[in-house]
Amino acid sequence: MNRAVPDAAQPIVGRTPVIDNLRRLIEKASRNRLPVLLLGESGTGKEVVARAIHDANPRGQFVPIDCGSLVGTLVESDLFGHVKGSFSGAQENKKGLVEVADGGTAFFDEIGDLPLEMQVKLLRLLQERQFRAVGALQWRTVDLRIIAATHRDLRAEIAKGRFREDLYFRLNVFTIRLPPLRDRKADIPLLVDHFLERARAAGLPWFDPGPDTRARLSAYDWPGNVRELKNAIERMAAMHSEHHPETALPSALVNQSRSADLERLSAAVAVEDAPTCEFVVRPKSPVFTISESERNAIERALAAAHGERGKTARLLGMGRTTLYRKMKEYGLD
Ligand SMILES: Nc1ncnc2c1ncn2[C@@H]1O[C@H](COP(=O)(O)OP(=O)(O)OP(=O)(O)O)[C@@H](O)[C@H]1O
Ligand SMILES: [Mg+2]
Repeated sequence: MNRAVPDAAQPIVGRTPVIDNLRRLIEKASRNRLPVLLLGESGTGKEVVARAIHDANPRGQFVPIDCGSLVGTLVESDLFGHVKGSFSGAQENKKGLVEVADGGTAFFDEIGDLPLEMQVKLLRLLQERQFRAVGALQWRTVDLRIIAATHRDLRAEIAKGRFREDLYFRLNVFTIRLPPLRDRKADIPLLVDHFLERARAAGLPWFDPGPDTRARLSAYDWPGNVRELKNAIERMAAMHSEHHPETALPSALVNQSRSADLERLSAAVAVEDAPTCEFVVRPKSPVFTISESERNAIERALAAAHGERGKTARLLGMGRTTLYRKMKEYGLD
């Protein structure tokens, strides 16, 4: 994970209606202490939202607990603490993260990865506000807000026996779904400027990506969501050179836009003058590989040009030699 530019105290950037709604939900959530469940793909801003809920009405500490990295025998002690002598290696009393969060917010990140034995203990914490340190006889009562997040489909995890349904019902009280970035592309320009500015503040050179690159950034689907966009901008800033402003574009992005260009071209050719009945219309897959798109485009252009290679090459904007080579490659000659 790229941590070049620190993450603390992030504003929620965006002006689309889903983000306005998100701000309203954060405000609402901050007014009570109910558990909050944040659902969304990786990189959509679950941690930013968890912190925003805490910061909107700060009480005590915000304590992130990464459930994915809690493994093995120390999980329980990490979460709930232990008393001296309770196991070999327990030389002192130790506070767990839950106790550190007492009076504040415990953020259970990747709750879907919490081991089943710990899920029972978390359930008790939610229901009774009680926990017991490893080796302790006494239950302790705490007052804390629990925010949980996951990119997993918890219902599917329940079906597979990996997540407790009773815990799910306890958590699923105030649930916020974060949209993937591809569903709010109108926010990309704002995010680009925001991350350029943050990169500059962190000492990286500022640069203007220019209209072409900006258009590509806005068209890309960003499977890694805001985190992927942020990393791409930081990487571009770090590698920026006056002479080659384009070289640092992430390759996935360049490929997707090339493939999209070819798709557009192939559609345009088909609409303009191709007799459509000559093609077999394949079921539309959401993703075309570049070579599939290219082969499609060539096939359509050939049909539109009635097999005339010079015209086909002109339609496709490629040289004849390239066209011959590609036709051979795709078995179209
Ligand atoms: N709306 C937003 N405005 C500004 N920055 C954002 C926004 N959403 C996410 N970010 C930034 O994107 C990055 C990813 O966000 P965050 O860590 O909150 O995602 P996540 O949903 O917790 O992802 P993961 O599931 O991978 O942990 C962070 O650097 C965060 O600052
Ligand atoms: Mg996260």
